[in-house]
Amino acid sequence: MSGPGREGKLPKARPSHLTLASSRPETPTPSMAEGEVPEMASYPDELERIQSQLFVVARDLSSLYMRERKQAQHLDQLVGELKTTYLRVVQTLAFVVEAKDEYTRYHLERCREYGTALAEIVDPALATPEVQYGFLLHDVGKIGVPESILSKPGPLNTEEMRLMRLHPLNGVHIVQQMNFLTDDAINVIRHHHERFDGEGYPDRLKGEAIPLVARVFSVVDAFDAMTTDRPYRKALTIPEALRRLQAGAATQFDPDVVGSFMELVERLPAQSTASPA
Ligand SMILES: [Fe+2]
Repeated sequence: MSGPGREGKLPKARPSHLTLASSRPETPTPSMAEGEVPEMASYPDELERIQSQLFVVARDLSSLYMRERKQAQHLDQLVGELKTTYLRVVQTLAFVVEAKDEYTRYHLERCREYGTALAEIVDPALATPEVQYGFLLHDVGKIGVPESILSKPGPLNTEEMRLMRLHPLNGVHIVQQMNFLTDDAINVIRHHHERFDGEGYPDRLKGEAIPLVARVFSVVDAFDAMTTDRPYRKALTIPEALRRLQAGAATQFDPDVVGSFMELVERLPAQSTASPA
């Protein structure tokens, strides 16, 4: 067994205190007696080597973690910027509608404010930024309605009413490419003129078949419309508008949602529900 190949694997300069080990096999063999302690002298070197490797691994993990954290922060920033862009797109589109109809000025912002506050009472899960996009865009379909109809200072004839009643479906058509809008937001646009008794439009849905978010919004929309000057009438007082909401509970509106709106009005400061000058 003492060929040149084997000799080549042996350490060339062993420390003198390890000379005894050089006469032993390099690795423990099954012939080692039970309880015999294996060669201890190589353990500190091995531990040191493992420790060095652990340091390297720890350092790599730390730098990996820092890099991931920076990327996550960058992604958070990008998502935040994207959400701001979405909101600006929605606001721009909504304000185009508002600009067409001077009587609806500030209507959108008030609807968003009241709608969000009412949603928080009725079902907090509905009070999301995405639903607010739906509140802002609820009448976006009016882009396709002639201004002569929007601003007509009297009752609409049958054909004018037919065109006006297309605006929920036109609105859904306009926003269908905006894939950041949620189902709730789309439901506000499509169903905000449904009535609780099934006599609304465009789908004549009845009762709880009307998405809750649309039942919430229709109360807010009607309240704001009643307390604002319109081409065909002056603004109602707030007590009169509230009386009409209660009179319409279970016919036009979800009675539970009207009840929640009464709670909300009691909580709001007086100037928040004041009619615009
Ligand atoms: Fe509408």
